[in-house]
Amino acid sequence: MNIRVRVGEFRVDDHIRDAVLRVLGSERISEGKETRNFEAGFAKFVGTKHAVAVNSGTSALIAGFLALKNPKDKKPVRALTSPLTYIATANAIAITGTEPVFADVDSETLCLDSEAAEDLLEKDYAASIRLIVPVHLMGYVCDMDRFRTLASKNHLRLFEDSSQAHGSSYKGKRAGSMSHASSFSFHIAHNIQAGELGAVLTNDIDIARRVRMIKANGRICDCLLCTRPQGRCPKFGKGQEWDPRFLHAEIGYNFKTMEFPTAIASAQIARAEDIAAKRRDNVRTLNDLLKKHSDMLRLPKYSDDVSYLGYPLVITNPKKLNRSRLQTSLETNGVETRPLFGCIPIHQPSFAHLKKKYKGKLPNAEYLGANGFYIGCHQYLSEDDLHFVADAFKKSLKDTAR
Ligand SMILES: Cc1ncc(COP(=O)(O)O)c(C=O)c1O
Repeated sequence: MNIRVRVGEFRVDDHIRDAVLRVLGSERISEGKETRNFEAGFAKFVGTKHAVAVNSGTSALIAGFLALKNPKDKKPVRALTSPLTYIATANAIAITGTEPVFADVDSETLCLDSEAAEDLLEKDYAASIRLIVPVHLMGYVCDMDRFRTLASKNHLRLFEDSSQAHGSSYKGKRAGSMSHASSFSFHIAHNIQAGELGAVLTNDIDIARRVRMIKANGRICDCLLCTRPQGRCPKFGKGQEWDPRFLHAEIGYNFKTMEFPTAIASAQIARAEDIAAKRRDNVRTLNDLLKKHSDMLRLPKYSDDVSYLGYPLVITNPKKLNRSRLQTSLETNGVETRPLFGCIPIHQPSFAHLKKKYKGKLPNAEYLGANGFYIGCHQYLSEDDLHFVADAFKKSLKDTAR
């Protein structure tokens, strides 16, 4: 059978078509006014002073972690994060020369557990931890009050990986606004979709400046729009021999984006509240339709504060119901599925060197990583689609449960 209910869908409406045509009409496709407009609009949406656009959520993590690094740190340092996340979180920590250390997650919200994090901060190697990276998985927001207290008590930097939580909130504050810096991904499966795009958010102008440098090969320019054509470049005064675009104060990357994805994302920011509300309605309806299976599947916790990336489910007894067989059957019955990312040090081959150290130490993440999966709850699903999902579950559970 063809897949009818996908994890996410991208549809082109007039707003998106206009955005792309506007970029083409401007005859400027590399970063310019659209990108600055996106940065201002998204910073306002999240509630931070600054947003810096980069070409992916992974780039946002790398640039953000580098910007938070203390250049005086000569010894190897560590970052405390969640083991249950998309691999990019741990990859970016490792790529920026830091060792990831993992604390367990809360089994209901899937988020890094603040108590487990606190316990870990009392271990003997805690002195080398410089950064805490809570991940707001599936739109659930971590306990940020506790993380803020932990960070300030231990003089650590705090960075929210908010890639999956556009528009989620915690005690009236938006995900991504409660740390020294945060990152978002606008990958195609997310609640604001632009294909490939990321952003770093912060209230600290120095962090924003550093991210602007790092994303452009470390060049010294940090003007929002180039003032050189008007002869007003602050870095190209009298006696300055070098064009500042080619003067590099530190080693960096090319993480710049194009005008197309930022224009597309801006068109969606305007509707982000409606998108999140429709996803919440779908989660409520699915919870109603599937509650008769809750002996076999743990359904997601509902909250008005969550902007759901997907609809996560957890198998209650893996001896009676095998995840892989259920996923295959659901896909045969027209419902696309994804695993819940896995517990990084236990399930991901690229971090296999940590398996022995963590085996049995992260029981919730290990269980969820092996027995959790998610399906779509996106804004384009109709009432009929949700009933189609319920029928697919009925058939698949009948065929696969022992
Ligand atoms: C939690 C998390 N962090 C980071 C990323 C990386 O974002 P991107 O795919 O845009 O590089 C993702 C992407 O899905 C993610 O879910």
